[in-house]
Amino acid sequence: CGIIGYVGEQPALEVVLSGLRRLEYRGYDSAGVAVVGGGVLRTARRAGRLANLEKVLDESGEQMPGTTGMGHTRWATHGGPTDVNAHPHTDCTGAVAVIHNGIIENFAELRAELEAAGHELSSETDTEVVAHLLEIEIARAAAAGPAASSVSPVSPVSASSSGSGQRVASAHPVTEALRVVCRRLRGAFTLVVLHQDHPGVVVGARRNSPLVVGLGVGEAFLASDVSAFIAHTREALEIGQDQVVEARPDGVTVYDFDGTPVEGRRYHVDWDASAAEKGGFPYFMLKEISEQPEALADTLRGRLSNEGAIVLDEERLSDQDFRDIDKVFIVACGTAYHAGLIAKYAIEHWTRLPCEVEMASEFRYRDPVLDRSTLVIAISQSGETLDTLMAVKHAREQKARVLAICNTNGSTIPRESDAVLYTRCGPEVGVAATKTFLGQVAACLLVGLFLAQTRGVLYGDEVAAYVERLQRMPELVRRTLGTVEPVRELARSLADAKAVLFLGRHVGYPVALEGALKLKELAYMHAEGFPAGELKHGPIALIEPGLPVVVVVPSPRGRANLHGKVVSNIQEVRARGARTIVIAEDGDTDVEPYADHLIRVPATSSLFAPLVTTLPLQVFACELALARGLDVDQPRNLAKSVTVE
Ligand code: G6P
Repeated sequence: CGIIGYVGEQPALEVVLSGLRRLEYRGYDSAGVAVVGGGVLRTARRAGRLANLEKVLDESGEQMPGTTGMGHTRWATHGGPTDVNAHPHTDCTGAVAVIHNGIIENFAELRAELEAAGHELSSETDTEVVAHLLEIEIARAAAAGPAASSVSPVSPVSASSSGSGQRVASAHPVTEALRVVCRRLRGAFTLVVLHQDHPGVVVGARRNSPLVVGLGVGEAFLASDVSAFIAHTREALEIGQDQVVEARPDGVTVYDFDGTPVEGRRYHVDWDASAAEKGGFPYFMLKEISEQPEALADTLRGRLSNEGAIVLDEERLSDQDFRDIDKVFIVACGTAYHAGLIAKYAIEHWTRLPCEVEMASEFRYRDPVLDRSTLVIAISQSGETLDTLMAVKHAREQKARVLAICNTNGSTIPRESDAVLYTRCGPEVGVAATKTFLGQVAACLLVGLFLAQTRGVLYGDEVAAYVERLQRMPELVRRTLGTVEPVRELARSLADAKAVLFLGRHVGYPVALEGALKLKELAYMHAEGFPAGELKHGPIALIEPGLPVVVVVPSPRGRANLHGKVVSNIQEVRARGARTIVIAEDGDTDVEPYADHLIRVPATSSLFAPLVTTLPLQVFACELALARGLDVDQPRNLAKSVTVE
């Protein structure tokens, strides 16, 4: 889900709606807003996309005056995507409004308790219980009288994150109530709360779900990610685990769930609003595909120190810690998992360490063998995917070392890790990952080289030679993207296909999986990726006349005649009537007799090939989905950042 809270001097509704437009990629099952003004709390919410809500607001002409507000775009978990289940949710009195991202695992028992106490809950959501618990807690605290403490807020104009701000009398009653209520909640949540009697303050809290603060001048924002407020400010404050934040126009104060004031880490966002806009493209996905040369170049830039050593962005481990590693696990979800599968080939080849790749959602449940000499590499574009975060937490509990590959500065997974390499792809809005996949693959290759170098398996000059060759890849990506027009035509001609198979071997296998995933996500088409050699052991039974089969062919210059074996695999499927779509490097003439459609990519070394072979598959899926009349930025049922397990 996407969340934004605002307090300042601007009309809150406009700020909140424009923030929601930027957050909609996080969930688009329903949308809602709340504004406090003139002693009244007004809410509006609707099933469906944000545009539905905006239409209703326009048509009703309903005014929602006030400069304190919040909004939500939902990816449904508890309760279907209906108007009634849309956020915000309110308490019995209608004075408290709550929006929420995550899952409150003990909501059933809390709901039973509330109902027993006479509260009437109108939705099926887990969120609504929070509004009622807050109602009770605020009333209880009011009856008990005011608390006294004195804390400095983080001011947007103060130089440091605390100490120089204006003094405030005490934590606000709504802040206090939220803090107390959060201690009763189990699960994962970001919560933002407004109260009818308290304009000028918006309160948030988080556990295992994202929440970041935007610090403007005379205004503050609480949001799922910085894109929600980037048009207003680039100054941000991280909110840590189990913390509650009180935002006012003159600054924010942060407390842990015990009520102790804490300092957040301030940072400057190094991209601006234009990076999160379509820039003339009809879809974010098309823009993001085209941005891949720069995303890759930025990710690779400046990775070698003056001494010729690969440098990570954050390192809280010593070289000796890395030398003590005796096995590697990679955990990730979706597209990031496919980047991890590619990393395994590079890491085992370069470091000679055993490396397993596992879907993060499965990792901790099978009790993996972990200790201080295990390195767990977590790959996550958002840095917030809860499956991956939980895998990281489990690994750390077992004393394993954790290295994160992430695209989002200030997100949770890198903060929970011992070392970080950031991909520098800029914001990715299209729900199906494209440029961040390329960034992840490059980052994985860098981590492989880093480990090999730190452990003394590769020497400085060898590493430098690899990095230099890697740095030539953005140009090859640019060239490849310049030649994909025939792929678009092919995709349009296949718009009515029932299914597509994807085959590959070695690193071509994860590329085949990624090609199939893109087609499922975007075109809602049955698509499967297989190792080409495994085909004869079962999946070949799926081949029937006319079935499109995409084959990712390794370089003919590669090892162990893998190329020849894949050429045989192409012949096997073609002999059974498949329509073969062959992705092969320039100059590979062996494939020509067996390719119904031949897509050329520049020649590269085997481990780098996914950086170019993936590109036509992205374009293929995107164009095929567009030919089917689908929205490639917001495919049905999906969300960009899934913060529930
Ligand atoms: C969601 C998205 C996928 C993405 C996966 C992992 O399922 O729909 O596109 O690959 O999450 O996201 P992450 O942010 O952890 O890379």
